[in-house]
Formats: sequence, structure tokens, C-alpha cells
Amino acid sequence: MLKKGAPISDPKGKLGVLLVGMGAVSTTFIAGVEAIRRGLARPIGSLTQMGTIRLGKRTEGRSPLIKDFVPLANLDDLVFGAWDIFEENCYEAAMQAGVLEKELLVRLKPQLSKVRPMPAVFDQQYVKRLSGSHVKKGKTKMALAEQLIEEIAGFKKKNRLSRVVMIWCASTEMFIKPHPVHKTLEAFETAMRENHKAIAPSMIYAYAALKSGVGFANGAPNLTVDTPALIELAEKQNLPICGKDFKTGQTLMKTILAPGLKARLLGLHGWYSTNILGNRDGEVLDDPGSFKTKEESKLSVLEYILQPQVYPDLYSDFSHLVRINYYPPRGDNKEGWDNIDIFGWLGYPMQIKIDFLCRDSILAAPIVLDLALFMDLAQRVGMRGIQEWLSFYFKSPMCAPKLYPEHDLFIQLMKLKNTLRHLRGEELITHLGLEYYD
Ligand SMILES: NC(=O)c1ccc[n+]([C@@H]2O[C@H](COP(=O)([O-])OP(=O)(O)OC[C@H]3O[C@@H](n4cnc5c(N)ncnc54)[C@H](O)[C@@H]3O)[C@@H](O)[C@H]2O)c1
Repeated sequence: MLKKGAPISDPKGKLGVLLVGMGAVSTTFIAGVEAIRRGLARPIGSLTQMGTIRLGKRTEGRSPLIKDFVPLANLDDLVFGAWDIFEENCYEAAMQAGVLEKELLVRLKPQLSKVRPMPAVFDQQYVKRLSGSHVKKGKTKMALAEQLIEEIAGFKKKNRLSRVVMIWCASTEMFIKPHPVHKTLEAFETAMRENHKAIAPSMIYAYAALKSGVGFANGAPNLTVDTPALIELAEKQNLPICGKDFKTGQTLMKTILAPGLKARLLGLHGWYSTNILGNRDGEVLDDPGSFKTKEESKLSVLEYILQPQVYPDLYSDFSHLVRINYYPPRGDNKEGWDNIDIFGWLGYPMQIKIDFLCRDSILAAPIVLDLALFMDLAQRVGMRGIQEWLSFYFKSPMCAPKLYPEHDLFIQLMKLKNTLRHLRGEELITHLGLEYYD
């Protein structure tokens, strides 16, 4: 177990942030960091930049910024790299994504144009709605991984980086069930050499990252680093991994609201969620294979938070439906509706309606930033394997095989902050507070 107050090395030198996929989320993240660096905008939504952490007793008045409490890389020290199946540079891709205002992007053009994606490891079998030509060729999946490993080393050398992290921000791959080839690293490597179908492109990136000494975070719901084989590799390489599926929009709302309903012991008859979304992500998710991956990720949240087995009278029989409709006019500005049928005292029914006019990539970008900085911190501390304390950022948080995932946003935040307190040798906060009344 990680020792309380163990030494943490300083974030000296530059941190490389390698993004798989340079679409709406990645470009909004990169452009956002460039804008913040130049004082053109503020890092709203980022816990590492704006969040504080209470230390000690409430009477002590100690609440430093998280970034002053733990040694995190400075935004000026981030260097971006990416892969994509399209050749457009980050400026062109951001213009295409249409999330940020053109005037802002034009101001940042010199920096953004420099980020040119490397050719992707891609196979249309896994993302049916996409095809692109900026793609690597290789006889086997292992040969493709070797090309990625070389590129990671080249990126590190060229930019004189001291550390690198990788984050999957590429399209959602089709639903893949865990297969025996994912069970051990040995079986996984053999399967890569034999071009086995159960090895998806995202797994090839994750393998290459871990082989290169680079921690990996998965922002999409596809089966990737959450396999025993890659967990084994992460542990062997002493590297952190986490995932999966950035918690933004509708699921964020669900994990804010459902714990509140449960706290007040209000029952649930049903929760119907539907979305209209017009960006490329929406188009990819219009394919049933990719949607199935997303649906699994979105559906599990309520079961885990509401615990029907513990509260059978309240939650044993609710309907939960999730729909995503591709509707081009909306672009990245998704609209998510929720109709929630609840019941209270003596079983009397009530309804809650939510209409969230959200901006997907605006919600996702600060998550990418926080994950890059916290994964780098974890790497420097020597935290290896699954980083459950980063569950806060994910719809389907990875956890140890014997555990169930914790979805409640407030428990997740407490876990994250207590992990930071533990790292710095501070007392954990239990909120007991009896001592104030002695
Ligand atoms: N925006 C959000 O709120 C949010 C929340 C949770 C998860 N996600 C997930 O994050 C991912 C990115 O979302 P987005 O809105 O930026 O999508 P996007 O379609 O704009 O961008 C994805 C990019 O990945 C590229 N790509 C696909 N397969 C690739 C591969 N094998 N290698 C390299 N590049 C590849 C595509 O060409 C595209 O440019 C999606 O999987 C999405 O489901 C997004």
C-alpha cells in the first residue's frame, strides 16, 4: 500500500500529453490550455486549477488550492501530441469541430497549427461510421504497436520531455466482450502477433503506452485498459491506468441527483434519458455497435448508486432507458432530457424533468487536463495499476475485481481529496466533527 506522506518527486521539465484522436474533445482541451496560458480565458471546471482542499479542522482555516498542495505540472510545461485518422492539424480540426469561437482559434492558430496528428492505428471493423486515410500499415497488431512505441520515443526525444501520459480521446469502438486472450499478458501478446479480432486498436495504443513507460487513461467506454492482461502490464511497469468514459453531461447529472434521492429515501419507478447530438461522436454512436458500448457504460450508473439489493422497497423495480439520437443541426451542443418518476411518503408519485442544454466538449476538456496532471502525479509517486481515486472523472470507473465501482460523485470527490491528503501526510477528513462540541 502507498505510504502516507511518501516523497513525491518534483514535476521537473516538460510533460508530454499524447492524445489518441484529435476531434472535438482533444482540440477543445488543447486550445483551452493555450488560451489559459495566454491569459485569454480561465480554467473553469478544472479541479487541478481552481479546486481547493480543506486541511485539518474547520477552525484552522486551511484550504489551499489543490495545485499548491500537491506538486503538479505547470500548464506552461505541457507539450501536446496526437494521432488521428485524418491529417488536419489541431487548428483545422478545432475549426471543423465547431466547439470554440473562430476568433479565439484564429488567435491561437500559430500554436495549434503545430500540433499535427501522427497516422493512426485504425480498423473500420471497430468504428463502422468512420473511414480515413491517415492510417498506419503493419502486418500484425504487434508490428503496429512497435511503430507506436517508436513514435512515443521520438516525441519524447524531439520535445525533450521528462515524462509522458496518454489519454484516449478517440471515437467509441464497437462493443467487445472480454475474451480469454485478454486474461494474461502472455496470451494478449500472442494474440497481437496473430492479429486476433479481440484486440481492438485502442488496446494496441494502451499496450504501446505501457511498454513505453507511459500511464494510460481511457476517456471512451470501449474495452481497452480494463483487461487483466493490460492491468498486469501496468503493474509490471509500475504505471498508473484509469478509465473509462469521461463523466460529462447527462451521466454527470445522474450521479449528482441519484445520490440525493437515495439519501432522502425517495423511491424510483423509472428514469428515461434521451439526447440529441450532432457532432462526429454522435454520428459514430449512431452505429448500433458503438452505441451498445456507450449504453452499457451509461446504464450501470443507477444500479450501483441506488443499490436495489440493499433497498428493495425503493429500487428493485425501476425502468432505466438511455437513447442517443444523431441530429446534425445541434453540433457539439447536445440537449439531454431526463424524465424521472419518483415516489415518496406512502408511495405517492412525483416527477422530475431535466433539460440540460450542455456543451459536451466544454465539459470534457477540463477532465482531460485534470487526468493528464493527476496521472503524471501518480506516475511520479509510483502509484501503479488501477487508479480508483480518479473515478470522479468517469462514467464507468475501473476498480479492483473484487469491488463494485463507486459512482456517487460526492463519494468520488471525497476519495480523490483524501488520496491527496494521504499523499501529503495530512489527516483524512471524516466529517465526524464531535470534537467541536466537547
Ligand atoms: N465529449 C464528451 O462529453 C464525452 C464524454 C464521454 C466520452 N466521450 C468520448 O470521447 C471520445 C472523443 O469524443 P469527441 O467528441 O472528441 O469525438 P470526435 O468524433 O470529435 O473525435 C474523435 C476523433 O478520434 C479519431 N479516431 C477514431 N479512431 C481513431 C483511432 N483508432 N486512432 C486515432 N484517432 C482515431 C476520429 O477521427 C476523430 O477525429 C469519444 O469516444 C466519446 O464517446 C466524450
